[in-house]
Amino acid sequence: MEGGIPAGNVVLIAGESGTMKSALAYHMAFENARRENHRALYVTLNQPRSNLVRDMEGLGMRLDAVDDRLAVADLGLLRMSMRKELRTNSWTDVIKMYSQNLKLSVGYDLLILDSLSVLETLSGFRNPREELFQFYEWLRGLDVTTILSYETIAGDIEFGIFGEDYLADGIIHMMMVKVNEDTIQRRIRIVKMRSTNHSTNFFSLIVSRDGFRVARVIAPVEKLSQPQSAKPDPTKLLPRPDWVEHER
Ligand SMILES: Nc1ncnc2c1ncn2[C@@H]1O[C@H](COP(=O)(O)OP(=O)(O)OP(=O)(O)O)[C@@H](O)[C@H]1O
Ligand SMILES: [Mg+2]
Repeated sequence: MEGGIPAGNVVLIAGESGTMKSALAYHMAFENARRENHRALYVTLNQPRSNLVRDMEGLGMRLDAVDDRLAVADLGLLRMSMRKELRTNSWTDVIKMYSQNLKLSVGYDLLILDSLSVLETLSGFRNPREELFQFYEWLRGLDVTTILSYETIAGDIEFGIFGEDYLADGIIHMMMVKVNEDTIQRRIRIVKMRSTNHSTNFFSLIVSRDGFRVARVIAPVEKLSQPQSAKPDPTKLLPRPDWVEHER
């Protein structure tokens, strides 16, 4: 992909359970905070903050490495700090209020909502298509780049039942594939990313404490993308090409 997710895009990370949607979204927030001094807000709805932070530390992403530039909020924290608002508002409204307040008070460039599927369940949308459309419009108006994780069923190639996919500017699809009787490998592909040129191929996703790498599934001859110039482009956000690696 050319230089990363275009700033301001609303991007879905879709995939079945355990495909590392949260880890990839966290990695984007963490590396933007660590290397680019961006600020990020990560709202986890499907696991407690303590579990997420512990798991991400296991992948080498320690919160103390980014000072306060990565804020992580969970349902418990939202329940506590937005108790009054929750009495009369839906979860979607409460998350909107919380995100807006934080945007005004500390400011951030990247919002992660993990996951949109849980938000839909919690909010119990009456008119899901219309309410989702309005939610995406609201996100665009917030003037941040947004990553929404989205749970799919194994083997599913649809990324939304109420237009979640059509409304999104980008879709990153994560999956597991069986390569032989004993081996399952992780794959990642960009289904769409408005305003940028990208490959639509599947890549292997390799995860270690040193970070995320993607590699071509079939050994390549040439590089997918050249390293960026030393000067960061402020209009682009991670993932940057330097986590693109190739099978040797
Ligand atoms: N320290 C680690 N090193 C390597 N892989 C890890 C480590 N910790 C977790 N994993 C892998 O990450 C997977 C979970 O990743 P993650 O929670 O990001 O997935 P997810 O797609 O968000 O899952 P869910 O649908 O449950 O939210 C684990 O199943 C495990 O395979
Ligand atoms: Mg997750």
